[in-house]
This record gives sequence, C-alpha cells and structure tokens, in this order.
Amino acid sequence: MIVTTPPMGWNSWNTFGESISEELVMEAADALVSSGLRDAGYTYVVIDDCWSLRERNAEGKIVADPAKFPHGMKYLADYIHSKGLKFGMYSCAGTQTCAGYPGSFNHEFTDAQMFADFGVDFLKYDFCYKPKLANGPMLYNKMGMALRATGRDILYSACNWGSDDVWTWIRSTGAHMYRSTGDLGDNFQLMKDIAYSQIPKQGFNGPNCFNDPDMLIVGMYNKGNVGWGGCNDNEYMMHFSLWCMMSAPLMIGCDVRNISEEALKTLTNKSLLSIDQDPAVRQAIRVPSEKGDDHLILFKHLEGGDYAIAMYNFSESPCKNNFFLHDIGLGTETGYGLTLENIITGEKFEKAADDFGYYLEPHTCATFRAKVVPLK
Ligand code: GLA
Repeated sequence: MIVTTPPMGWNSWNTFGESISEELVMEAADALVSSGLRDAGYTYVVIDDCWSLRERNAEGKIVADPAKFPHGMKYLADYIHSKGLKFGMYSCAGTQTCAGYPGSFNHEFTDAQMFADFGVDFLKYDFCYKPKLANGPMLYNKMGMALRATGRDILYSACNWGSDDVWTWIRSTGAHMYRSTGDLGDNFQLMKDIAYSQIPKQGFNGPNCFNDPDMLIVGMYNKGNVGWGGCNDNEYMMHFSLWCMMSAPLMIGCDVRNISEEALKTLTNKSLLSIDQDPAVRQAIRVPSEKGDDHLILFKHLEGGDYAIAMYNFSESPCKNNFFLHDIGLGTETGYGLTLENIITGEKFEKAADDFGYYLEPHTCATFRAKVVPLK
C-alpha cells in the first residue's frame, strides 16, 4: 500500500474514550458525511481503544464487546463503507492495550487476519504493556508483516509516542504514519509544546511514513475524554495551521455530531488543507524571529513553486512579528523578494524585500501562500 499524502479522518478517542459504541460510531460516520467533512478528505473512521471484551475467548480470539457493538465489527465496517468512508480499528503491541483490553503480543498474525476479515482499512497500533525484553522495532515489524500477509490494503498507524528514537527505525517496519510525540489533549500549552517538539523531526517526515503529532483537538472546547483545559477558536486555528505546515495526518478528535460552525470552517479550509496535502510533503522549517521564542515562524516548500509561511503569536501580548528574508536565503543581493497572500483574509503584500513583519494579537496566527518574485 502506497500512501502519498498525510491520512485524514476521525478517531473516537478524544471525545468518547472508553464510552464507545456502534451507535456513536455510526452517528459520527453520518455526521462526517452530512457536514461535508468526508468530501473535504476526512475519510477514515477509526475506533480507538476499549472496543473488546477484557479477555480473549477459548479460541484465543479478541471478541468485540456485544454490549457496545451488538452487531459485531463486520456490520459496522459495512455501514461505514456504504457511506463512502474507510474503517479503522486499534490494537497494541503489548499483552494489553493502554486501557487494559487484550493486546496483540504473540497473536499478531491471527489478529491481523481478524481485522482484515472485519473489513478494516486502518490499524492504529499502540505500545502499552510491552514485555520489557521485547523489542519495539521487531514488534512493529511483526505486525507490519502480519498486515501485509492478509493481502488487504490496511493503513498501518504506529503509536509508540515518540519513544525509543522511533523515527530512526519506524519507516522500515511498513508503518504509514507513526506517533512522533506523547498524547495531545485539549490544552493550549501542551499543543504548543508538541508543535515545538516536532520542529527537529522535520527530516523524518515524508510520503509513505508520516510524522504524527497526534489527533486534532480542534472544536473540543474542553469537552470529551481529553478536555484538559480547552482552547478557543483562534487557538484551534493556530493548532490546525501548525499541523498543516508540518504535513501531519489530520485525524479529527472532536464530537463531529455537534461540531461548531467555526471548527468546521477551520477543518475544511481549502487553502490550509492544500498545504497539508501538498504532494511534496516537505515539513516546514523554523525561521528565526526577531521577537523571541514565543513568536514562531515556519516556512515550507510547496509543489509547483509556491511556498507557505506561517507566523504564530504564543505570547500574551500583541506583537508585530518579523523575519529577515536573508534568513531564508532571499537577501536583497539576490534581486528577489516575496509576494504573500494571507490565506484566511486574502490580504496581499507585494514584493516584500529585506524583511517581512505582520501584526498578531496574542494566541493568533497568520498563514500565507507566497511566491518568490524579482524585485524589479
Ligand atoms: C495511548 C495512545 C492514545 C490512545 C490511548 C488509548 O495513550 O497514545 O492515542 O490510543 O492509548 O488507551
């Protein structure tokens, strides 16, 4: 299976946690369709942890919890497929999942076949309860081979939270995306810390195996399973712009059945999505800001010759942030400058030379599409 752009979809964990059910997943699938999110590209519907009974059955199989999923997983997969969506599930490389349900350790090939028989198109594979002497690269490789042995195209989403220098080996296990950080919750400081932690990881991102800074918190407003303080709409815009600049997978985590208009607008912004889904998959690099660490500036090459530039004000004060064009190699001696367009407001800046500054309120950002243009 070849995956050329960052996967997009919805995952049950952020909102529902352990309280997941067939009914809720179907409602979420319906909402993805009626809201237009499916047509914007969010096609994977993924059930996270807590879908099974606590013990395997006498034949050693994991059993879907009949109270939560009365018609079984194949039924749900068929429903999701009938909506033009793809179906994802979850297991773990250890003996148990993070929430204490059966993991796939030493059952990899039979579990992978069971997922394929359900009609699964995506497997998230966690890392809790790994026997201490078992080795992460081997365990992820084992499930990678088990999924391939089924003959079904299953997107393999590894989740070891950025431990064991995972970026140095994960691509060779067959994973298509891998968690390059610990868990994100609905909290502004945590979102900032995770975003900054991903800047040095840019060299590991690329087609077929994407860095994954975790599921989106856009639109959660402190509700659900990971409401750890909550954010406002400007902060969600910063988060979404950052994930797009990083070419991150976009897995929605909010309750899509009751999504706010503002969150929907952010998540379906075509210009931001085209930056995330840019086929070149060149994760942004950081440009030094004249205003210090709370003023992040990112710069990204896009396919076809354009660039994306984003400026973020993480500080508590309004600020005109600026950067020198020579820091991206466009000093005035080159005879070139930048023409920029703010992709949200449409505001245009022609032939910026030497430096570029932009005024930002606290906890806001501006994302630009830019061209390198001759100054004369
Ligand atoms: C880990 C993962 C989360 C989620 C939970 C489920 O913490 O990182 O994304 O899957 O387990 O228990």
